[in-house]
Amino acid sequence: MSLDLNKIHPRHGTNSVKWEFIWRDEILEQGDHAHPSQGDQQILPMWVADMDFRCPEPVIEALHERVSHGLFGYSAPTDEYFSTIIDWTSSRYGWEIEKEWIKLTPGVVPAVHMLLQAFTSPGDKVLIQRPVYYPFSSAIENNGCEIVSNTLIYENGSYRMDFDDLAEKTADPAVKVAILCSPHNPVSRVWTYDELKQFGEICLANNVLVISDEIHCDLIFSGHQFVSFPTISEEFAQKSITCFAPSKTFNLAGLKNSNIIIPDPEIREKFEEVLFRNGLWGTNSFGIVATIAAYREGVPWLNEVMAYIEANYRFMKEYLAEHIPEIKLVEPEGTYLIWADCRELGLSPAERKKLILDVAGVYLDEGEMFGPEGEDFERFNIACPRPILEMALNRLKEAVRNYVPA
Ligand SMILES: Cc1ncc(COP(=O)(O)O)c(C=O)c1O
Repeated sequence: MSLDLNKIHPRHGTNSVKWEFIWRDEILEQGDHAHPSQGDQQILPMWVADMDFRCPEPVIEALHERVSHGLFGYSAPTDEYFSTIIDWTSSRYGWEIEKEWIKLTPGVVPAVHMLLQAFTSPGDKVLIQRPVYYPFSSAIENNGCEIVSNTLIYENGSYRMDFDDLAEKTADPAVKVAILCSPHNPVSRVWTYDELKQFGEICLANNVLVISDEIHCDLIFSGHQFVSFPTISEEFAQKSITCFAPSKTFNLAGLKNSNIIIPDPEIREKFEEVLFRNGLWGTNSFGIVATIAAYREGVPWLNEVMAYIEANYRFMKEYLAEHIPEIKLVEPEGTYLIWADCRELGLSPAERKKLILDVAGVYLDEGEMFGPEGEDFERFNIACPRPILEMALNRLKEAVRNYVPA
């Protein structure tokens, strides 16, 4: 298979959050994406985590066929759907799951919210490992709970977990749930078996329920091995909930379909009650069709896309070393999100935002969104055609060269 991943697919007019919207004062607004200082040049968005690549052709064909049918009444997953998820989980992660364990939700973020509604009460504490995917913090706060950060240790350009701190924090009986981000967004760590085992043992010893968000688990760089948290031991599987989705893997986020795996019947029942209380049943007709086609026929596409993303990373690393050595990248192990240490630019987060967005016209996710620990960083989404990446880096180079702080 040979995909033309260098091709730029304009995404305007498709309701694309990445290409047609911008956060201003905590509100997602439709933006014109006209570059303020460069006439009609568009802002290059490298923020929200979706890809600028067309999804696998078999998925597009399956959706076409479904659309041609012309009837879009209520849909629910059939046995074909469940066996697809079971086969994928077995062959990719070595985890044998059962149909009853699989609960569908319109996304992992809504699932995390509802899981917190099921397993915490307002005032409880929920542990996360900052810097981390910011909707975890929103989910905790939206449900009246308190954030406890078992902050990752950043040393010699890479991140690791702080197990002493984890043991101390989970010993607090108010900590009911820990949200694991595996692989970790934004620091791109693919946690090893030993790290996950230690994490799980500490949570288990302190009776802390683990929500393992594994949405990025198919996006692994060569030389690294993803381990699914519940496969480490039966006890871990019984005291955890694992969130999977084809959305990051195959660029299907807009289809709003994810799979929440809950082996323990009591935990499952509590979650089902919350789904019921929110009136959630059935699922998006297109999400079902796309998931089956992607998991059954999308692997050649995925392999090619991952190789391209790795090449994008190497290109970016070399480019920065040559032209903007002040920006240092944390070596990614998975995801397509690159965490960039910008301390040597010597700018405050506000000055950096001005430089990157207003002067260069590149829209990144600012590090501080992932927690105060991220304030010296920027997150780049490099799942884009190389010409876009190159254009963004050229703009940044010029902006850094010419920038004079006000
Ligand atoms: C760790 C993590 N979880 C969840 C999501 C989004 O999940 P969904 O679109 O299924 O709500 C993302 C998207 O970037 C993510 O990085």
